[in-house]
Amino acid sequence: MQTLRKPVIAGNWKMHKTIAGARELAEAVVRGFPEVSQATLILIPPFTAIQEVRKTISAAGVEVGAQNVFWEEKGAFTGEISPLQLKEAGCRFVVIGHSERRQHFGETDETVRKKTLAALGHDLYPIVCIGETLEERENNQTLARIRTQLEKSVFSLDESSFSRVVLAYEPIWAIGTGRNASPEQAQEVHSFIRSLVAGRYGKTVADCAIILYGGSVKPNNAFSLAREKDVDGFLVGGASLEAESFLAIAREALRAVRD
Ligand code: PGA
Repeated sequence: MQTLRKPVIAGNWKMHKTIAGARELAEAVVRGFPEVSQATLILIPPFTAIQEVRKTISAAGVEVGAQNVFWEEKGAFTGEISPLQLKEAGCRFVVIGHSERRQHFGETDETVRKKTLAALGHDLYPIVCIGETLEERENNQTLARIRTQLEKSVFSLDESSFSRVVLAYEPIWAIGTGRNASPEQAQEVHSFIRSLVAGRYGKTVADCAIILYGGSVKPNNAFSLAREKDVDGFLVGGASLEAESFLAIAREALRAVRD
């Protein structure tokens, strides 16, 4: 972890939590926040709970995000959510191109590109997810896959837009499986991503880029992952559903920065 960057710990709650459950979890995170306030914490509840979470965390300095966005501002797009609506509900961040969206809902690098542009156009910070399948890893195609995903989505942005994008490397085989990438595997891909960013936008932009790791991050593996030079924080699924484990991951990431 490079000391210049403050660790970012984002909790993707996926399709979990009622409004009441979301409030309870957000309150518990807020209670524990003073101890980890050197990190940026982002709570990413389902759409229905965004406003409630926003209200709960607003004074505390915790951030809120959404799990998806459409690229149009309004119109006949039943079931979609617009960047304008997310902004109004209090979001500052939005996850784009999560592998579950790609796998179950047909999202592609092209839709990720359009959504990223729309989010940036409304002052939302996109958290753009990339990552390879198990088959791609076993066939030594990981880096090629990552390169293609970046080239077809965020590398079409100009420099000032790209500077506001958070990247999340999430190997698909590690998501929800309890099988995290080893620190070495994560570092290899993170440093590759940073080198591609440097090639496209220059070293200064690459040095400042925030690259999160996601995939079975837990309190007991967060420290060793966060110690890697190019791992700037985490996108956490399962372990973000309990305040204690989410906060413990933030504590471990901070310990790694200070180490
Ligand atoms: P997981 O999910 O931590 O439950 O593996 C990560 C994610 O999907 O972002």
